This record gives sequence, C-alpha cells and structure tokens, in this order.
Amino acid sequence: METLVSSWSKTCIKVPENYILPEGQRAGSDEIHACKSFPLIDLSGNQSKAIQEILYACQEFGFFQVINHGVSEDLIDDTIKVIEEFFDLPNEEKAQLFSTDQNKACRLYTSSYNYNTEKVHFWRDGLRHPVHPLDEWVHLWPEKPTNYRDVVGKYSLELRKLTLRILELICEGLGIEAGYFEGDLSKNHVLSINHYPPCPDPSLTMGIPKHADANLITVLFQGNISGLQVLKNGQWLGVEPVPHAFVVNIGNQLEVISNGKLRSAEHRGVTNSKVSRTTIGSFILPNHETIIKPAKTMIESVPLYRPFKYKEFSKLYVDTFGDTDAVMEAFKIKT
Ligand code: OGA
Ligand code: NI
Repeated sequence: METLVSSWSKTCIKVPENYILPEGQRAGSDEIHACKSFPLIDLSGNQSKAIQEILYACQEFGFFQVINHGVSEDLIDDTIKVIEEFFDLPNEEKAQLFSTDQNKACRLYTSSYNYNTEKVHFWRDGLRHPVHPLDEWVHLWPEKPTNYRDVVGKYSLELRKLTLRILELICEGLGIEAGYFEGDLSKNHVLSINHYPPCPDPSLTMGIPKHADANLITVLFQGNISGLQVLKNGQWLGVEPVPHAFVVNIGNQLEVISNGKLRSAEHRGVTNSKVSRTTIGSFILPNHETIIKPAKTMIESVPLYRPFKYKEFSKLYVDTFGDTDAVMEAFKIKT
C-alpha cells in the first residue's frame, strides 16, 4: 500500500531514482505536437457522415473524440467525482483492495502490472474491475464512497451501450455484417481507472508508458486535464481535452479483425506538476476462449493474421511486457 504514488508523493519534492526513466523513454525526451486536426466527431448528427469520419479517424489516427454521445453530463461528473473521492480515502479504507496479484478481479495497484519485476516505476495508481454483467461483479467493487457502486454501475451500463453503438457504426463503415461484434467478441467489459498524482518533475517520468490497448476497443474519459499523447508517423500528438467528450481508440483485436485496415495506435500518459489527473478507461474485450481472426469481408486478397484465441494474445502481451509490435508480429502470417 505504501508503494501507491498517491500515498507517498504528497510530501515529495524530488523524483525518486527508481521513477526516473532512461533518456529516450521520459516524457521530456520528445517534442510534443499540438494537433489541430485531431478528429472530433459529433454522434448526434448525420449518421453516414459520422461513419465516414470514424472510419477515416480509425485508419489515420487509431483515435478520435466523440461529443453529443448521449451519456448524461451529470452522470459523467458524478462518476469522476466518486472516483476521485475513492483515491482520497485514507489508506486503511483502500488497503483491502490493494494487490499485486494480476489475477485478482478487482484491485487497486500502482505503476504497471509488473511492479515487482520492472526496473523503473510509473507515476500512476490504478483501480481495475470487471463491470459486466453487473450482478456478477458489483459486490467486489469498492464499498466506499458509499455511492461508488450505484454511480459507477450506471456509468458502466451507459458506456457499454455507447461502445456497442460505436462498434455498430464501425461495422457499417467497414462493410462487415451488422451485429458482428455482439456476443463473445465484446463479452467482457472492464473499467481501468488511472490516477496520476502531481509530480515534481514530469519530464523525468511517465504516468503510463507507450503501449497499444490489447482489447477490442477503449472509450476513455480524460476529464479536463491534458496528458494523453498519441503516436502518429513518429510524432507524439497531444489529445486536448474537450469538455465531457470521450476519447475512443482501436484495440489490437479490432486491428486484426479489420485485417489491418484500422490502426491500434500506440499512446502514453504523461504527468504534470500542478494537479492530479484521473482518467476512466472503459475496455471492451473478447471472452478468453474466443477465436480472433480477420473478418471474411475484410480479406481483399490474403488474411494478414492467423486465427488465435484471445487468451493466447493476452498471455503473450503480458509475457512481453506489452510489446505490441512483437505480439502482433507473432500472429502474422509469414509470407
Ligand atoms: C489506458 C490509457 C491514458 C490516459 O488506460 O490504457 O492509455 O490518459 N490511458 O490515462
Ligand atoms: Ni491505453
């Protein structure tokens, strides 16, 4: 528990040695580009226009933001508030959820999933738990704040609806049959909450290191504080917060299913020295036994990937410390 950044960093004036990344991996190593054309898509307007914009964004950036998405602003505000309150609770309240065991369904942890083996730690605490089906998991969630389960439960249901709707738009855009992602491909749903306390020198550290999401699709709420950066053509682009918008990104499984047409882009999260930043990732994942393969309609000449079980992918992702290129390569058909 004392390893939680939020526990010890309040009085910290100098970044500890074991949080200083090697040159080249630090937030301060790269120039960050403001991106005026980062896709911002209005989901309430013309649907065929939205589909076109989503497809373009998924091919070019692997990322986009959505507004007028139908999730109530009050619910979003209540959710981020209750989550921030959770991180502000005294340690003894949070202690029972803290675990370094990756197999624990609901857990509070710090840095990455490799705390015990990584050389350098990341400036982040995390809370992660499954949310679907609600009845199966809600009893494992935090008991305090007392409205956590109620508020986060409502939020999770809304996010699931929104994400399935976005997946339908992607289906239509790709020309894949309607309902393709229903069922086992989107069976699992996890909230992965990130909490980045202020850091005395953000340039030396990283909140969440460069990675691509191994899931099907992510819908992230990043609040009003910037920190998310996306890699495009070798340049880091900052994703500027838009009030009450969600950031959507393509996961590795959707890249495979689209036979490489959609990109699962690498991204990372940096910290700042002034305020804590809390983000809520909503991850849709296939069931572990589900076979992932390029959809028939996506194969123009040859499939780029061999069929595999999702659990094979996630095992390799963990074993390679999230080295997406290596994992994607392992499932590619060699020509
Ligand atoms: C993630 C992620 C970015 C952020 O949780 O997978 O990329 O800004 N988060 O918190
Ligand atoms: Ni991510």
